Amino acid sequence: MTKYGSFPGARPRRLRTTPAMRRMVAEHRLHPADLILPAFVREGVSEPVPISAMPGVVQHTRDTLRKAAAEAAGAGVAGIMLFGVPEDAKKDALGTAGTDPDGILQVAIRDVKAEVGDDLVIMSDLCLDEYTDHGHCGVLDAAGRVDNDATLERYAEMAQVQADAGVHTVGPSGMMDGQIGVVRDALDQTGHEDVSVLAYTAKYSSAFYGPFREAVGSSLQGDRKTYQQDPANLRESLRELALDLEEGADMVMVKPALPYLDVLAKVADSVDVPVAAYQISGEYAMIEAAAEKGWIDRDKAILETLTGIKRAGANMILTYWATEVARGL
Ligand code: PBG
Repeated sequence: MTKYGSFPGARPRRLRTTPAMRRMVAEHRLHPADLILPAFVREGVSEPVPISAMPGVVQHTRDTLRKAAAEAAGAGVAGIMLFGVPEDAKKDALGTAGTDPDGILQVAIRDVKAEVGDDLVIMSDLCLDEYTDHGHCGVLDAAGRVDNDATLERYAEMAQVQADAGVHTVGPSGMMDGQIGVVRDALDQTGHEDVSVLAYTAKYSSAFYGPFREAVGSSLQGDRKTYQQDPANLRESLRELALDLEEGADMVMVKPALPYLDVLAKVADSVDVPVAAYQISGEYAMIEAAAEKGWIDRDKAILETLTGIKRAGANMILTYWATEVARGL
């Protein structure tokens, strides 16, 4: 007995006494192969273009993208998710550049494939917003609404040209109903049975995409609330999940990551396919900005968020810090 009562019978602190002890009992640890690097490639530039809201991230030239892919592979990163940024003049209502076999994303897929072969899983964003002049993820009907089924036809064409270019995995991110089934069919019917589909299953309408819009030079008019999920909803993501799996998703994703760890945990608990989470542009910007002001320890904050995302159930994490973190692990 102490002066104030009995000694504790259990002392969890014993397992926190030294760094070696803490390392030994850690329940989750990050590995370079958990990480996927999202990367932007811009058409027609000879120097990489910095993205002001994402210090340290650039719109790559074709050359620097190849270098970034080689560096990621060298660091043991698992994959690269490619986003194309076409010349402004090439944007139109249908997002034609997205289905042009010589469009910037298709060119980038071929470049990265030539550079790293199968050493990285080469993934591509399958969405129209980078290519449309109105900035929406689909085509519009006469009333200016995003037309779900007309958009699906565009996605089917995108799947084919991206697969023709040699991509390993396509990532349909537009949140159209039926997109996974249509993309799967399009791939199968064009001889691309081995190309896998990473479904953006629970993709929320988020304020944290802000810096991404600069990254892809998006000219979005309005918002995406009629197709992306409402942040208020959890159960709805399970419905999206069931549909995506039924339609043939090989892997599923929750996005953004940090404000949606409950969704991630629930999704991860309910599936037997690999689960990804996307630590998005605004999550990146928040940490970089606070660190620049000296308000948080940048490196520790990065690792803490990534560990938290893994603990919540992610097998794979898309993060703009992928190469840097993989090198440090
Ligand atoms: C859609 C897409 C977006 C992101 C990835 N794919 C933007 C959006 O839905 O508005 C955001 C990624 C990020 O913010 O880092 N093509």
